[in-house]
Amino acid sequence: MSDFPARFKEAVGSGTVLVQAPGIRESVQAFARSVAAGLSDEPKWLHYRFLYDAEGSRLFEEITRQPEYYPTRTEADILAEHAEEIQRLTGPVTLVELGSGYSVKTEYLLSAYSRYDEPVRYVPVDVSGSALLAASRSIAESFSDVDFTGINGTYRSAFPVLRQLSPQMLIFLGSSIGNFNEAETTSFWRSVTDHLPAGDFFLLGVDLVKDADVLEAAYNDAAGVTARFTRNYFARINRELGAALDLTQIEHQAIWNPALERIEIYARFISDQQLHVEPLDQTFEIRGGERIMIEISRKHRLPKLQRELAAFGFDLRHVFSDGKKWFALLLLERTDDAQQRAAYPPATR
Ligand code: AVJ
Repeated sequence: MSDFPARFKEAVGSGTVLVQAPGIRESVQAFARSVAAGLSDEPKWLHYRFLYDAEGSRLFEEITRQPEYYPTRTEADILAEHAEEIQRLTGPVTLVELGSGYSVKTEYLLSAYSRYDEPVRYVPVDVSGSALLAASRSIAESFSDVDFTGINGTYRSAFPVLRQLSPQMLIFLGSSIGNFNEAETTSFWRSVTDHLPAGDFFLLGVDLVKDADVLEAAYNDAAGVTARFTRNYFARINRELGAALDLTQIEHQAIWNPALERIEIYARFISDQQLHVEPLDQTFEIRGGERIMIEISRKHRLPKLQRELAAFGFDLRHVFSDGKKWFALLLLERTDDAQQRAAYPPATR
């Protein structure tokens, strides 16, 4: 793999639609190792990152259209209403989006930014190459002057090229931050703090704490799309790791944990099954009644979140929200480097 920052620099502005970040091709081995690590633990878990293969990305997109799943719709409404104001607050900047998927909501920002600065430079980052390609086609159809350079990789793969893209606004929508556990959250913000130059912006979409019934319904849609999304994890294990799981014996469960203020998503095995991970030639026993945690979705409270972000070197410039205060979009500005070093929270171990 040649030097990624250099390859990326060449690609920007050249009409190259997709640049593969290092590591994206090793994903079967990485997937096998991650599955083995989670299934060796007690209680068992699986890392949420592998939910998003081509089928998982397609299913997640379908989740966002379910009537119970309010986050996407609410965030899109906030974006539609405030995109112009966000543009006025940041001025012309490169838009870099982490976990862009099909970039549907981002089109509101692209239309606001392309009214004032053309061409608009847009750098979406996603583990799903198929979603990035679909996004590039849809954007090419709707916008005449968006300079699109996608990075096919994890969030992390974008960090080494951020300094090349300043002035910029990093965009992280959909409350994807809620997937991270405490250690992942700290490590994410430390990396952003390290790589995002002072004066650059960060647009963060966060889901807020609300009534448990509303939350649980959003993750247990009546049409069963979220259940299919959960089951696809195991379909992917069958497809890519050569397992032979009976998917009809795996149930989806999403539960609000009020103490930790998060939705927890489990796959519950109805009967005993063996899960063979072919690339590692390892077999795991899963008992009937056993639950495997596959995802968390933390919900936020603004005062606490603002304090945490301040400690990582971000000033809150503006909060945009909906009438019910169900979801919030935070416009943050990366503050002066030197001042912040002292306030850096230490890594939690
Ligand atoms: C993509 C992390 C924002 O937590 O709401 C939705 C993922 N999983 N339904 C969320 C998800 C099941 C979603 N995020």
